[in-house]
Amino acid sequence: MRALVVGGTGHIGSAVVRELVAHGWRVTVLSRRAGGSRNLVGIDVTWHVGDGHDKADLRAAATGMTLVVDAAAPYPVHPVTPRSDADAHPVAFAVRRTQALLGAAADAGAALIAIGSFVTHKVRERRARSGLGRLRSRTLRRLHPYFAVKEGVEGELLAAARRGQRVGLLNPTGCLGPWDLKPRGLCLVPMVACGELPSTASDTVDFIDVRDVAIGVRRMAETQHFGVPVLLAGHSHPFGDYFAEIARLAGRSAPRLSAPASLGVVALWTAERTLGAIGRRPPWPALSLFIVAECGPVDRSVAQLALGVAPRPLSETLQDALTWYRELGYC
Ligand SMILES: NC(=O)c1ccc[n+]([C@@H]2O[C@H](COP(=O)([O-])OP(=O)(O)OC[C@H]3O[C@@H](n4cnc5c(N)ncnc54)[C@H](OP(=O)(O)O)[C@@H]3O)[C@@H](O)[C@H]2O)c1
Repeated sequence: MRALVVGGTGHIGSAVVRELVAHGWRVTVLSRRAGGSRNLVGIDVTWHVGDGHDKADLRAAATGMTLVVDAAAPYPVHPVTPRSDADAHPVAFAVRRTQALLGAAADAGAALIAIGSFVTHKVRERRARSGLGRLRSRTLRRLHPYFAVKEGVEGELLAAARRGQRVGLLNPTGCLGPWDLKPRGLCLVPMVACGELPSTASDTVDFIDVRDVAIGVRRMAETQHFGVPVLLAGHSHPFGDYFAEIARLAGRSAPRLSAPASLGVVALWTAERTLGAIGRRPPWPALSLFIVAECGPVDRSVAQLALGVAPRPLSETLQDALTWYRELGYC
């Protein structure tokens, strides 16, 4: 019952830490933040300050653990303006880092549960298509490395599971809820709540509460359900419905304009390229729209139901998210 949560200060990671602590686990958080973090105030954890992408730090932090949870897998947000090795060579970096993580868990004799992404399931679905849908999907995936990064990481994890290592993989859809510390420009709820987004996408999207993802991690550890990626879905609705509900909770009106995400992708991708050419970054990275354009609605999987992850009401998620971002001063 000793768990290391890599990325335990993150949006998903902090929910995992809270869930495990509430169920009697002794939890260590591996983080670069020496002074703790605002989303874990009052939670009884041990801090291990280090780099969650570094082999030696991972190995040192994992020693003595029965479980390692990875909630810090890289996700390339600014591929056009790289400022680190992870940005410049995102797939190679993510694969190397996954190998280091697997090695650390194996050396400690710990099970590993990794947070991946639902896009890998969607990409498999799209590959099975024919015609224009397949071509459109391939083009989107070639334009943004996020998809290849998530597939590369998942490939390494599943290969280790096939070799007999105890590896579990949870693949959530978009995550909402409290305890997010990302920069404000990456947070949908406060931007909608403050009326900053001029239009919404007409596509359907799926969001799950980080607390429900955390329940999935705990249940996976308890049931030792390893070796097969589990897709975790919450609620699939038109994007505009999310905007309308957030705006209603914030006492504002929602944007009236709506367009397919694929049009927004073209606009944001062009802005990213153009600004990238002079070393600058746009206020809204294209990544979220790439995912919306590629993925669409998601059904809850049999494996999710078997794990006992029943998403809480969306209204609770959105209200708690709004309350959190207000506490942070984001809206
Ligand atoms: N949020 C979503 O909608 C969503 C949906 C599906 C999948 N995912 C995936 O789930 C994972 C977690 O997402 P998230 O939304 O929780 O991200 P997040 O809020 O940005 O958290 C990531 C955490 O990783 C830690 N981290 C990053 N680099 C690190 C390093 N070198 N050493 C130590 N810690 C490091 C950060 O910790 P410190 O800054 O404290 O060091 C941060 O707390 C990502 O792989 C993401 O792609 C997210």
